[in-house]
Amino acid sequence: MSRINVMQPWLGAEEIAAVTEVIRSGWVAQGPRVAAFEQEFARVQQADHAVAVSSCTTALHLALVVAGIGPGDDVVVPSFSFIATANAVVYVGARPVFADVDPVTGNLTADTVAAAMTPGTRAVIVVDQGGVPVDLGAVRGLCDPLGVVVVEDAACGAGSTYRGRPVGVGADVAAWSFHPRKIVTTGEGGMVTTSRPEWADRARRLREHAMSVSAAERHASVLAPAEQYLEVGFNYRMTDLQAAVGIVQLGRLPEVVARRREIAAVYTDQLAEVPGLRPVADPPWGTCNFQSFWVEVGPDFPLDRDALLAHLAAAEVSARRGIMATHRQPAYAGRDAGSQPLPVTEHLTDSTLILPVFHQMSGAQIEQVADALRSAAAVRI
Ligand SMILES: Cc1ncc(COP(=O)(O)O)c(C=O)c1O
Repeated sequence: MSRINVMQPWLGAEEIAAVTEVIRSGWVAQGPRVAAFEQEFARVQQADHAVAVSSCTTALHLALVVAGIGPGDDVVVPSFSFIATANAVVYVGARPVFADVDPVTGNLTADTVAAAMTPGTRAVIVVDQGGVPVDLGAVRGLCDPLGVVVVEDAACGAGSTYRGRPVGVGADVAAWSFHPRKIVTTGEGGMVTTSRPEWADRARRLREHAMSVSAAERHASVLAPAEQYLEVGFNYRMTDLQAAVGIVQLGRLPEVVARRREIAAVYTDQLAEVPGLRPVADPPWGTCNFQSFWVEVGPDFPLDRDALLAHLAAAEVSARRGIMATHRQPAYAGRDAGSQPLPVTEHLTDSTLILPVFHQMSGAQIEQVADALRSAAAVRI
């Protein structure tokens, strides 16, 4: 019995060939492959504009900058998310205000957002947590009449759908991750998508020190035009090496999502025989890519979450604690982040774990995980 990882990126000969070609081309920084990756990503995600950056964290930062969020503004965010969601708000000098999440989906809802809103709320960052699509329409129904910007943190969302279209389409601006734990990977990397051309233009400039002429454009001309630095920008560029990998990965997206959904369906079937474990599932308004297949360990299960993790580890299954609660981290300890109680966040973060799902996972490996869960169900403490 060999150890099963929680996630394994699916990278192969095509990615190697694509990177080799970039190296041979002599242009490895942001250039034509980044432009091609942006175009392809926009097509696949049905976005009007896509701007590639170095990570989802930097994508979230730029999203808030182009939306005009800054000091004195409040931004409603889930605490139940990777810490980068809230950190991006701090980067622009605004205040993250934590809202609780729905106990079934783990996502913000219009009700939890409404409860956290303050007179200073200028934006909300909704998250498609673990790839579960947020009910964006309901949140927009609340925010639009108030002029509150809706940012979607779709770090985990590539391949998930909301009302028949890719997630991210309905937000003012969305941010994506290509970290290896995600469905499409470029090693590190991110994307900003938006329907607003002026926001896309500004994000495109800001990622490259706010230069009036990009490095690729200057390289292409014999007498390089003098660039101007229109405002204080950042170096949030993606490289052509990464983008070449991203283009191949994007081509694999339908296959990867289909396989993950197959694995999730087998887990769901097997877990139906194990009382006390509730697996994540598609919400009524969309489909999950199952970027994270999480399971809630209920009070009627004989082990608590941490004991179950230890049991799985002994069976050579690398599961992981569920999503973190940002408000409990030392970085947010003394910080004023609103006063909403977060009982669902605290419950889910303490009672959920993430099971292994990766494209190459074999039937025997799925069986090994399910066996370990069944044997845990029979354990008495
Ligand atoms: C919801 C969410 N937002 C943002 C991020 C940050 O992504 P990146 O590592 O690409 O900066 C992550 C990464 O785990 C995430 O899960």
